[in-house]
Amino acid sequence: MGKTALLPLACAILAFWSVYLVKAEDAYKYFTWTVTYGTASPLGVPQQVILVNGQFPGPRLDLVTNDNVVLNLINKLDQPFLLTWNGIKQRKNSWQDGVLGTNCPVPPNSNYTYKFQTKDQIGSYTYFPSTLMHKAAGGFGALNVYARSVIPVPYAKPAGDFSLLIGDWYKTSHKALQQILDSGKALPFPSGILTNGLTQSSFSADQGKTYMFRVSNVGLSTSFNFRIQGHKMKLVEVEGSHVIQNIYDSLDVHVGQSMSVLVTLDQPPKDYYIVASTRFTKTVLTTTAVLHYTNSQTPVSGPVPAGPTYEIHWSIRQARTYRWNLTSNAARPNPQGSFHYGKITPSRTIVLVNSAPIINGKQRFAVNGISHTNADTPLKLADYFNIPGVFSLNSIESAPSGRSPYLSTSVLSTSLHEFIEVVFQNNENAMQSWHVDGYDFWVVGFGSGQWTQDSRKKYNLVDALTRHTTQVYPNSWTAILVSLDNQGMWNMRSAMWERQYLGQQFYLRVYNPVPSLANEYDIPSNVLLCGKAVGRHHP
Ligand SMILES: *[C@@H]1O[C@H](CO)[C@@H](O)[C@H](O)[C@H]1NC(C)=O
Ligand SMILES: *[C@@H]1O[C@H](CO)[C@@H](O)[C@H](O)[C@H]1NC(C)=O
Repeated sequence: MGKTALLPLACAILAFWSVYLVKAEDAYKYFTWTVTYGTASPLGVPQQVILVNGQFPGPRLDLVTNDNVVLNLINKLDQPFLLTWNGIKQRKNSWQDGVLGTNCPVPPNSNYTYKFQTKDQIGSYTYFPSTLMHKAAGGFGALNVYARSVIPVPYAKPAGDFSLLIGDWYKTSHKALQQILDSGKALPFPSGILTNGLTQSSFSADQGKTYMFRVSNVGLSTSFNFRIQGHKMKLVEVEGSHVIQNIYDSLDVHVGQSMSVLVTLDQPPKDYYIVASTRFTKTVLTTTAVLHYTNSQTPVSGPVPAGPTYEIHWSIRQARTYRWNLTSNAARPNPQGSFHYGKITPSRTIVLVNSAPIINGKQRFAVNGISHTNADTPLKLADYFNIPGVFSLNSIESAPSGRSPYLSTSVLSTSLHEFIEVVFQNNENAMQSWHVDGYDFWVVGFGSGQWTQDSRKKYNLVDALTRHTTQVYPNSWTAILVSLDNQGMWNMRSAMWERQYLGQQFYLRVYNPVPSLANEYDIPSNVLLCGKAVGRHHP
């Protein structure tokens, strides 16, 4: 064989290897999840809960960066159902976000196969039901994205890895809670707090070793403070950001947020309290779990360590200590600090003011005067099939105009590759927690009172961390910067579930007039159609 004959062969081998390498890197992982009702007694009284594959909370979804997930969700409830993947960015793929603006809910006795990738992600996340008040009954779980073997993480591999799903809990069923909200009333104060669906969780670990605790707030409305008796916590990761590894005695975790800490079992062999107690509430609810040293013969003892309860400034000060480690990488090899977000001038500023108006005699929640109502057709499908009359662009203004609040399907238009500043202005006495689907964003500032242009002087434009959910303190503001590099229809919502359910949410349409598969994947071949999209032809 001459040189010329060898070349195609060499190319074929190379092509084979590159395909093989891509496949080897980006594994496919298949799951079948069946959602049913079950009975559990987390607070001592039997109540209906939502199970995933018979489990409450649902199974832990352990993934690796860039995994391709194929997850068939079978709904055996008596109501339409969807899961959303809290913090999974669904790159170019809002088709799989699992909220009512992007997906038709899976009807009872039916199924939908989600197909998504954990593209360039790492960290502790969660999934949970996005429909009705299902989240109040369970159906949630931990979603961990581990680093690929070729990408180093900025800490030694821990001896073990625990997921702690902590949240406020009601003894009332999700349907009864929904009825309260539908009748125009706000929810009562929760009945308690659970850790992994229990009030008596226990975690066994070896003395002298270091473990990772992945802590998420899966509750409906209440921030909590987390601490472990006699132990320090080293914060290493917050929603995909590798942070400066500060040591904390206790940490505030707000609704919808997740963080990972390392804990070294450096104390005498004994059992220790793991504590979560509510923040900013008149009545303080506390729950304990147990850190059990495997060589311990001694049960937990001593007072349950106290934490902050109403100290807002304590919480703000702590939040300001969460900073990007600029030299550390996240899911990709390049250091986080190589993206100089602080040097980019935002193309626009969006000011979002939350409120709790009474509309038509009923309690609602709104943002910029609009209380969102879900359309009968997912906005994403209306956009794709050009179905008129489902939503109008810019139905929410980018700053409040002062008109009296009303109900509407709320969509804010932006362009792909804009870089925007968003100010969450909270003029209520209540805590607020805002989540953005499809993105993480730099949390550049917290301040009290009214945000003004002058507030920008206090922004952290150097090493703010990125995350998917940020708290907004009462009568305060939080400012974020977002690089709109992910085309799609993205839900922005209050992570406080009654607020979300009663309208404190909208959709961010990140759009490019020239359709391109490089920017956004095509509609999935198994897409469910509903509302005005029924009968439309899809590929
Ligand atoms: C339902 O599950 C079947 C496999 O059991 C699958 O082939 C089908 O695509 C699923 N339906 C949807 C809408 O994803
Ligand atoms: C930042 O990350 C680098 C690289 O992983 C690591 O060596 C360093 O210890 C980290 N610094 C802090 C303060 O966490």
